[in-house]
Amino acid sequence: MRTVPALLTALTALTAYYVYTPLPSTLAEPWKLLLLDATFRLAQDLSNFAHYVGFSHHLRVLNFVSNYFDKMDPASSIYLEVSDTVFDGVEVRIFEPKKELHGSLQRSIIYVHGGGWALGSARTRSYDSLCRQISEDVNAVVVSIEYRLVPNVHFPEQINDVYTATKYFLQPEVLAKYSVDPQRIAISGDSAGGNLAAAVCQQLAQDETVTTKVKLQALIYPVLQILDFNTPSYQQNMNMPILSRFVMIKFWLDYLNGSHSFAHAMLVNNHTSLDVNEAIALRQLLNWNSLLPLSFKKNYTPLMQSIGNPSIIQEVPALFDPRASPLIAHKEILKKLPKTYILTCEHDVLRDDGTMYVKRLEEAGVDVTHDHYEDGFHGCMIFATWPTYFSAGARTRDGYIKWLVENL
Ligand SMILES: *[C@@H]1O[C@H](CO)[C@@H](O)[C@H](O)[C@H]1NC(C)=O
Ligand SMILES: *[C@@H]1O[C@H](CO)[C@@H](O)[C@H](O)[C@H]1NC(C)=O
Repeated sequence: MRTVPALLTALTALTAYYVYTPLPSTLAEPWKLLLLDATFRLAQDLSNFAHYVGFSHHLRVLNFVSNYFDKMDPASSIYLEVSDTVFDGVEVRIFEPKKELHGSLQRSIIYVHGGGWALGSARTRSYDSLCRQISEDVNAVVVSIEYRLVPNVHFPEQINDVYTATKYFLQPEVLAKYSVDPQRIAISGDSAGGNLAAAVCQQLAQDETVTTKVKLQALIYPVLQILDFNTPSYQQNMNMPILSRFVMIKFWLDYLNGSHSFAHAMLVNNHTSLDVNEAIALRQLLNWNSLLPLSFKKNYTPLMQSIGNPSIIQEVPALFDPRASPLIAHKEILKKLPKTYILTCEHDVLRDDGTMYVKRLEEAGVDVTHDHYEDGFHGCMIFATWPTYFSAGARTRDGYIKWLVENL
C-alpha cells in the first residue's frame, strides 16, 4: 500500500515538471495559461508518438482528437441562422442575423480561422462561438471558411481555397442572395488565418476581374514572414506557451512542404544568410529590422549570417514568395490595400510580424489601427469562453469587434 502515496508523489512531481515554465510577471492568469499549454503539449507529444509508431501523420492525429471533442453542428439560435454550405467547391459555415431582426442590406465578414495551416476548423467550438459573437454583435453575415489543411494539402492550396470561396461570395448575385451590402465587406483571420487573409487581400487588390472590393482587413496576431526567426519578439518569446518558436518553424515547414531537417538551420537564419542571392535582393528592397519601434527591441541584436545554407531555398522555393510572407509584398501592392486593423500581443513570437506590417502599410499610405495588448499571448482571442476563459481573450475579442462595429 506504500506504493500508492509514492506513485502519487511521483505523478505530482512529473506533472509539475511538465506544466511549469517560468513566465513573465506581466502575463495575466499565468497558472491557467500553464495548464492550457501543458494540455496542448501533451496532445502534441501523444500525436508525435502516434506518428512515430507509424499510426498516422502527427497533424492528422492532432486534428482528429481536437475535432472529436470540439466539433459543433451548425445550430441556429433566436438571433442567427447558421448553416454549412459549399462555395465553388470550398466548404463554408455561414452565420446570418435573422431576417426579421434587420432591415435591408447587412454588413459582412469573411473569416479565416487559425491553427498553423494544419489545425482548427470553422466547426470547432472556439471558432463557431467567435463567429457567432461577431455576427450578433456587428449584426453582420459571417462566412467562416473551411479551407483544406496540411498534410492533405500544402502552400498555396490553403490560399487558393480561401480565394475561391471569397471570390464566389463577392459575386453580386451571391451577395444579393445573402442580403449583403457590397460596400461593407471585411476579410479577417487570426494567426495562420491572418496570414491567409492578408495574402488573399493582396491578391484581391490585384485581381481586376473582381468588381466588389473589400472595405476592411482585420488581422489578429497574424503570421506574416518566414525570413527571420530572430526578430526581437522571436528572441524574447521563444519558449512562450501556446506557440514556441520551434513549433512555429515546424508549422512553416509543413505548410511549404519542406523537410523538418531544415528547422535548426532556419532557427539561426541560415536560410536568409548573405550568401543567399534572393535574400540579398530582398534586403535591398526591404530592411525589415528598421521597421520596429525601439521600445520592442530592448536588448536585441539582429542575427544575420554571412555564410548559411543556400540549399534551403532550392528545396523550399516558396521561402521568398510574398503569398507566403505578405510582409514582403511590393509597396505598389500594399498601396492598393483597404483600411486595416492589426492586433498584436506582447507575449507572442509573432508580435513583430504584425508590427512590421503596420509600419509598411502606413508607409504605403494605408489607414491602419494597431491594437497592442501588453498582457496578451498568442491565440488568446479564442480563449474567451468557459472552460478556457482568459480576461485577455475577452478584451482582445471585444476590442476587435468594437473596431468592426465602428469601421465596417
Ligand atoms: C511534398 O514533398 C514531398 C517530398 O519532398 C514530395 O514527394 C511531394 O510531391 C510534395 N508535395 C507537394 C504537394 O508538392
Ligand atoms: C549554418 O550555416 C553554416 C555555414 O554553412 C554551418 O556551418 C552551420 O552548421 C549552419 N547552422 C545550422 C544550425 O545548420
